Amino acid sequence: MKAYRVESDQGFGAIRMVDLAPPLPGPGQVRVSLKAASLNYRDLVIAKGGYLRNQTRPVIPLSDGAGVIDAVGEGVTSWRAGDCVVANFLRDWVHGPLHERVLHSALGGAIDGVLAEQFVVPAHALVRIPDHLDFAEASTLPCAALTAWNALTAANTRAGDNVLVLGTGGVSIFALQLARAMGARVIATSSSDAKLAKARELGAHAAINYKSHPLWSSKVLELTGGVGVDHVIEIGGPGTFEQSLKSTRVGGTVSLIGFLASGDNPGIVPAILNAQTVRGIYVGSVEMFEAMNRAISVARLRPVIDRKFAFADAIKAYEYFASQAHVGKVVITRDEPAAAS
Ligand SMILES: NC(=O)c1ccc[n+]([C@@H]2O[C@H](COP(=O)([O-])OP(=O)(O)OC[C@H]3O[C@@H](n4cnc5c(N)ncnc54)[C@H](OP(=O)(O)O)[C@@H]3O)[C@@H](O)[C@H]2O)c1
Repeated sequence: MKAYRVESDQGFGAIRMVDLAPPLPGPGQVRVSLKAASLNYRDLVIAKGGYLRNQTRPVIPLSDGAGVIDAVGEGVTSWRAGDCVVANFLRDWVHGPLHERVLHSALGGAIDGVLAEQFVVPAHALVRIPDHLDFAEASTLPCAALTAWNALTAANTRAGDNVLVLGTGGVSIFALQLARAMGARVIATSSSDAKLAKARELGAHAAINYKSHPLWSSKVLELTGGVGVDHVIEIGGPGTFEQSLKSTRVGGTVSLIGFLASGDNPGIVPAILNAQTVRGIYVGSVEMFEAMNRAISVARLRPVIDRKFAFADAIKAYEYFASQAHVGKVVITRDEPAAAS
């Protein structure tokens, strides 16, 4: 079978396509024939060797893949050949709180991921694809959507809450859609007015350009009657954290998710003076994934796919994703014809 492999720390341009023997499912495992995979910011960092943990080499990249089961191992009763499934990011986080023992089961980092014609995982790592989604849409769920869902549910998001989402990448667009489905009011930020228009189309109630308003917390306060939002989906890290705290109401929550924006020594004092909760979020369990899929099915939520690339054009997909021109998700699908080169 064809598979991509990260063999060095030289970035996505050095990822190679290789021929490997098709993997065989052992006892308790299933094999999935990949239909579509999606990219996350982490995949760029992993290719450069800059990820904080799980730097296995060589490794098949990407955590997010959807497909059809084509073989089941001995003892598997929960799945059959032909089932349409998607794999959880942390393969072995099935239920309960996050535990140290599952940290080294992150697909496409610690262990082989999904950018191959077939991949094998334990039966417990899979969830069924919601009926109204196709494979490309389903492939966007494991990392970005589940992280947004975990953050929103951990912060006990309720109808009428104000939620702030930063930028228009994968996690933030899912947070916008899921928060709207929960009845919350969403404020979105972006570097681009065109992307903000898209966020409004998706249901954002208000939009702030963080380039033209570098101190955007003052705009957030204006939009919330001087009070601040209930919850921030914080994907910027050092470069945005202080503004996020200043955007948050007394007793509100900041979900710490990402580290896209550089900066130094963000002021943490508002978190103390305003008794805010700052909570680290790391993707989610299979149990959370199933709960999210129920909500996605009821809301008929459709993931936002910016662009699709053929399996043969995976490196072009990385290139496009790295340009940050996208809104939502970038997908690699085995149905898409390769672009003429
Ligand atoms: N903790 C977890 O479990 C978890 C899970 C998933 C992702 N993450 C992390 O979350 C972050 C986002 O991941 P992703 O896959 O959604 O990324 P992505 O799709 O690549 O998102 C990129 C977007 O982030 C926005 N952005 C960049 N700098 C920004 C800034 N200073 N202020 C506001 N927005 C900014 C930009 O939006 P505009 O172009 O609109 O400005 C950019 O297009 C990454 O750091 C990733 O590693 C963590």
